[in-house]
Amino acid sequence: MIRKDVASLRVPPNLADHDAERRTFTWAAARAHLDGLPGGGLNIAHEAVHRHAHGPLADHVAFRFLGGEAPRDVTYSELSSLSNRFACVLRGLGIGRGDRLFVLTGRIPELYTAVLGGLTNGTVVSPLFAAFGPEPIATRLTLGSAAVLVTTTSQYRRKIARIRADVPTLRHVLVVDDDGSGPIPGTLELGPVMAEASDDVALAATGPEEMALLHFTSGTTGRPKGAIHVHEAAVTHWSTGRFALDLHPDDVFWCTADPGWVTGTSYGIIAPLLHGVTSIVDAGDFDARRWYGVLAEHRVSVWYTAPTAIRMLMKAGPELAHAHSYPALRFIASVGEPLNPSAVWWGAEVLGLPIHDNYWQTETGGIMIANTPALDIKPGSMGKPLPGVEAAIVRRDANGEVRIVDAPDEEGILALRRGWPSMMRGYLDDEERYRACFAGDWYLTGDLATRDADGWFWFVGRADDVIKSAGHLIGPFEVESALMEHPAVAEAGVIGKPDELVGEVVKAFVLLREGFTPGEALRLEILAHARRRLGAAVAPKEVEFVDTLPRTRSGKIMRRLLKARELGLAEGDTSTLESGG
Ligand code: WT7
Repeated sequence: MIRKDVASLRVPPNLADHDAERRTFTWAAARAHLDGLPGGGLNIAHEAVHRHAHGPLADHVAFRFLGGEAPRDVTYSELSSLSNRFACVLRGLGIGRGDRLFVLTGRIPELYTAVLGGLTNGTVVSPLFAAFGPEPIATRLTLGSAAVLVTTTSQYRRKIARIRADVPTLRHVLVVDDDGSGPIPGTLELGPVMAEASDDVALAATGPEEMALLHFTSGTTGRPKGAIHVHEAAVTHWSTGRFALDLHPDDVFWCTADPGWVTGTSYGIIAPLLHGVTSIVDAGDFDARRWYGVLAEHRVSVWYTAPTAIRMLMKAGPELAHAHSYPALRFIASVGEPLNPSAVWWGAEVLGLPIHDNYWQTETGGIMIANTPALDIKPGSMGKPLPGVEAAIVRRDANGEVRIVDAPDEEGILALRRGWPSMMRGYLDDEERYRACFAGDWYLTGDLATRDADGWFWFVGRADDVIKSAGHLIGPFEVESALMEHPAVAEAGVIGKPDELVGEVVKAFVLLREGFTPGEALRLEILAHARRRLGAAVAPKEVEFVDTLPRTRSGKIMRRLLKARELGLAEGDTSTLESGG
């Protein structure tokens, strides 16, 4: 246990007494910290940017973009103006409220302007991960009825050109020329249209329950699910930014997640802006040496990252860390996959600060359970439910009824009592899968966990077959489907194979069609095929040929059994598969 003493913290934490605040907190009181719009409306872009642009924070830096030749600072007033211009561009194209805007770029300034400009216009925004291949992109654009896409010329040529005809709803593509390749027929170059656009544009008077963001996530079976998030979600982003990330007005905050995943939007864009802090945006991929340099040089004070990154830093050795000092750094949090207790301690030893694990999902829209600054840390635990959040461990009894497990340390499904503002309002066009997430008032996360006698929650594993690789959620069905499009593949079963560094790697078991023989050349060809279609973030790292795939009586591939075999467990003993996540 790492004991905390509030008096010894350099900056008094926003949440000095976790349990006391939980007793008095109300969402209505949190909501009062936002402006709202006349007539009961709410717009995330107004709360995050425009209100600051007309107040004392106008000239405060909102984002410092790294990755170009020199850092580029964008103030709140500039960000507001750029977002307005982008909203004006959308309006000029006939894109309005409720229409769907997708963004597929790296972490460049235009991504942030497009997201905030889209929200300003009342347009629904869905950021996609730039390391997705054409297949996952096409699936999401189609499911989301994309009307407009912002991307780069390099992404367009490599991925969008070949799938564009498959997405008939897509009316406009705006491109950022990132490779000097010049105009592409059928697209509009973003730079020139932005230059012509006015920044005097009326904010869309969105209602709090109006759809704002669409984040795709994966399940065990079927197509990806589009989690619907509304403008009201900003209330959770505000309160969790305050309590779980302990944001203070003069902080320099660095969320390392990409907005293609929900963390990069909720906490890489919205929460820090709501609090008026300066955020670092680094366009580059992980690099231990550079990351330490960013922390030191830009005087990051609050850092939100992921277990895989921390494990990679641990692996890089303490010398790299000690090449700099970090006098500004005062709070480190992590999310997305299990955080090893040794990583918590590593932070304390090497950086002088323990790592604070927290827990949430695409569906919950914001942090639910967290190790907050003043709370003692039990390394390996996700912490306690935040103010406004009620969590429980539940189980289904013999009649299928969901019962709360009161006894401590008993494993069950982690459930959250519905009612927090950032909870998804549905899965797009999939009422059935949405409804299946609930038992009465309880939202069932699909994660297995325990709660100890003191109220700390401990992650045990996923209750489904979804794969977590480097913090990214990957649906085995999407991978299996892409594999089966290869002419040699008859069937495929895909699992997450435990990996010390990235948590799990995607591994595929492949059954070949009649007439094809297993061999190294074919194995490499299938790997390359998957990578081309799915992109590096989703494609399997390993392919193994098999003679049969285990199936249930109803014909479903038993991924659990494949995993048990992979781990060398007795085939009957799939019960332990959940542990280790
Ligand atoms: C799943 C959600 C976290 C928001 C962004 C990812 C796993 C999340 C933890 C944690 C162990 C964790 C769960 C969860 N997860 N946080 N602290 N410890 N596992 O959202 O991609 O929807 O993934 O990530 O399995 O259900 P996501």
